[in-house]
Amino acid sequence: MTAPSSLRQSTGTPQDAGPGFIRIDRFAAAREVLRSGDVRQAGFNAELVHRFIGPRHAPVLYQDGEPHQKQRSATARFFTPRVVATRYCALMEATSRDLVAQFCRSRRARLDDMSLTLAVAVAADIIGLTDSPREAMAARLNRFFAAPMGRGAIATLRNAVFGQFRTLAFYLFDVRPAIRARRRQPREDVISHLIAEGYSNREILTECLTYGAAGMATTREFIVMAGLRLFEHDDLRARFLAADEPGRIGILEEVLRLEPVVSTLKRRTACAMTLHTETGAITIPDHSLVEIDIGAANRDEAAAGACPHQLDPDRVRPAKGSASLMSFGDGPHRCPGAAVALHEAAIFLDQLMRVPGLRLEQRPTKTTNPVSSGYELRDAVIVVE
Ligand code: HEM
Repeated sequence: MTAPSSLRQSTGTPQDAGPGFIRIDRFAAAREVLRSGDVRQAGFNAELVHRFIGPRHAPVLYQDGEPHQKQRSATARFFTPRVVATRYCALMEATSRDLVAQFCRSRRARLDDMSLTLAVAVAADIIGLTDSPREAMAARLNRFFAAPMGRGAIATLRNAVFGQFRTLAFYLFDVRPAIRARRRQPREDVISHLIAEGYSNREILTECLTYGAAGMATTREFIVMAGLRLFEHDDLRARFLAADEPGRIGILEEVLRLEPVVSTLKRRTACAMTLHTETGAITIPDHSLVEIDIGAANRDEAAAGACPHQLDPDRVRPAKGSASLMSFGDGPHRCPGAAVALHEAAIFLDQLMRVPGLRLEQRPTKTTNPVSSGYELRDAVIVVE
């Protein structure tokens, strides 16, 4: 059976989404697409980015096939369980302690500011952005990742101009000093690796921005979301605080399953591709845009088990693999920073939730980021009474 030019895979019902467009909301089909060698990255404006950067030294998120595989193997050493458990966990503990102590002194803070500072500190260490003051870099990245304001030609032009200024500021104040320091003395981080691979300064800047979005912005949002769930449910918070680290991470993965920060992944088929679904095999034509609805795939009963919409850390999942199912992606592009993000959230929230008199004073506003189509949570005010 050949798929109609536009369909929702679970139902086969044609959607009004234009030709060559396929949306998938079942876990097994999503996994098949993401693991296939017949698709190319098409998310996060990939096709636009490829027009400006050659494929040779494109950021890892935008590479495909053999060069992508090589780059992932070469950077895997920054994400091994041993490195996460030793080098990064010590940094997460120390940064969380400082942030919580500062909050206890001032008795009021924005949880989204605290989580940004933590996420920037950890990702910056992995990337090698350690030669500029961290708070100032966090503020620059925050402005860079803020959703564009307004509509229409003038707003578009203004956003483009400010975007250029912000990129330049990040390069001059953060990336260039880091590159210079590492050209003199390489270290064990991503920038040193890219220099050794012959990347230009511009290519390193682009990779830093990609890691910034992939590693800092996502973790920041997730920590706020997980914090909210713990504030809302006393029994879940009590269980979280009584659990050991694997137990805390299990709870966090279940939150992430229901609240994926990156809610849509996109791929373009490089040739006609056959998917094996419950209703039989379907063929997706060459050059189709396949959009994967992560939230829906994670709530697919066939993968998540009974009552898939409920938060249940004890759930029996028919799907093998990660408890957060598809929230860190799957296949060759699966997030290398998954363990980093989960440990970071577990360590920080464990320290924060133990503060006596802690209360959520103001729930955050929730908006959607147009590039990742993920949630953004702002102005979550917490206080100590
Ligand atoms: C809760 C936090 C995080 C979430 C939800 C998340 C989610 C994801 C997802 C869904 C992808 C796959 C994109 C695709 O298949 O198109 C991805 C890729 C990636 N993530 Fe994460 N991520 C998180 C944290 C991190 C951290 C902490 C780092 C590093 C410091 C990181 C670095 C990356 C990189 C470099 C990629 C691109 C990998 C590739 O294309 O091969 N992420 N992430």
